[in-house]
Amino acid sequence: MKPTISLPTFPKTVEDWWWAQAKQKWTEVGEEKLLNLIRQEIVEQSDRFNKNRSFESSSYGKRDLSIISYGNFYFSRTWIATLFGIAETISRSLWSIPKNGPIRILDIGSGSGASGLACLSLLRNQGVTNPVELHAWDYSSKSLNYLKDLHRSCSDLWPNSRVHSQRLDLRYFPEEKVKQKFDLILFGFSFNEITQDQEIEESTGWLEQSVQLLKRSGRMVITEPAESEICRNLHTTTYNVVTGNKDLSLMAPYFNGLPCPMTLKNSKYFSHEVRTYKALAHVEKINRLLHLEIREVKFGLSILGYEHPKVEDQGPNLFRLISPVKKRKGTISFMGMGSDGIEYLYEFQRRDLEKEMINDYLAMERGDIFRIIGSLSPNENHRIRLLPSQDIQPLFVPRLKN
Ligand SMILES: C[S@@+](CC[C@H](N)C(=O)[O-])C[C@H]1O[C@@H](n2cnc3c(N)ncnc32)[C@H](O)[C@@H]1O
Repeated sequence: MKPTISLPTFPKTVEDWWWAQAKQKWTEVGEEKLLNLIRQEIVEQSDRFNKNRSFESSSYGKRDLSIISYGNFYFSRTWIATLFGIAETISRSLWSIPKNGPIRILDIGSGSGASGLACLSLLRNQGVTNPVELHAWDYSSKSLNYLKDLHRSCSDLWPNSRVHSQRLDLRYFPEEKVKQKFDLILFGFSFNEITQDQEIEESTGWLEQSVQLLKRSGRMVITEPAESEICRNLHTTTYNVVTGNKDLSLMAPYFNGLPCPMTLKNSKYFSHEVRTYKALAHVEKINRLLHLEIREVKFGLSILGYEHPKVEDQGPNLFRLISPVKKRKGTISFMGMGSDGIEYLYEFQRRDLEKEMINDYLAMERGDIFRIIGSLSPNENHRIRLLPSQDIQPLFVPRLKN
């Protein structure tokens, strides 16, 4: 299946830059010792992200070891999640890139810059030449310094762009400090941390304030870790915000402004993307003794904007893939969220399919969007038998270049 949009792989210069930071900081230490130092820190960070989930300013933004370890291990992952989010913003959420004049991007909880810089690099990769301002907010001044150094050192990736960083504790929304509006507002795996101690009403209020900073033509792109409670909060909060503001719409992950159904009923599924990518050489090395998942990035996504979402036909023909593609008992099956907000189970008989088609279906990724041509008849359990003649057209199939 041909991709509908090709995304650049993670830049080698950025990978090398992070490794150079580690080597410069601990000049006396040999490679294996340095890798072990980083591994120890990554075990702590992994536990913090996946088990205890308690964050404060000292969590990983105060010590060089924490920032450099994150840079060498997690940075490429959130970078890639952002590429997919921005690809959808450009190609499906009808964001019209300003023709001229500066593009203003605000990266909230920017850390050392994986999301904001990924966005700059993708805009340049897509041939956007306007000047770009990246405004980065975080309470870790050390992380912001790394962001600025990296931006300066790899300037070929984002020519004609400037970084403005601000150290802010974002638990309190910095209302009076912001004078501008932005074309893009990004939260890269940071919304859940910033609002970690808040009830849903409070985080809704917080997001309502931040969405005021968006231009009428702008988009807010939120990526979050694919953990059920975090995704539930994301989709509930974004749904509350658009319900309270009739000018604002949900542009993704679903269709016609519909919310994720997990906000309306206690669905056992929670939506998130699962994208495969080739891990970087240094990530492989660090992971050698850790055995963490490094070949997939899983993330929840929400895109908001003040314009009306694309009007799409409603029903099972147009869907977003929300489950793995399963090959069993002579069938190929997968779940999709239809454009009417219903979860459908689609099923092919394998014996009817050519090998090439089977490979195509097995290569579909969670988050891809397709349209099936021909009439479909779901049964009462929303299960649909597909015929081999029923063409599945790719509408949003982003892939990283090899
Ligand atoms: C998981 S990191 C993500 C960093 C970056 N966006 C990325 O994509 O790699 C979360 C970031 O949110 C920041 N953060 C968390 N709570 C914050 C708060 N209350 N105020 C400011 N920044 C905060 C942390 O310092 C950290 O840089």
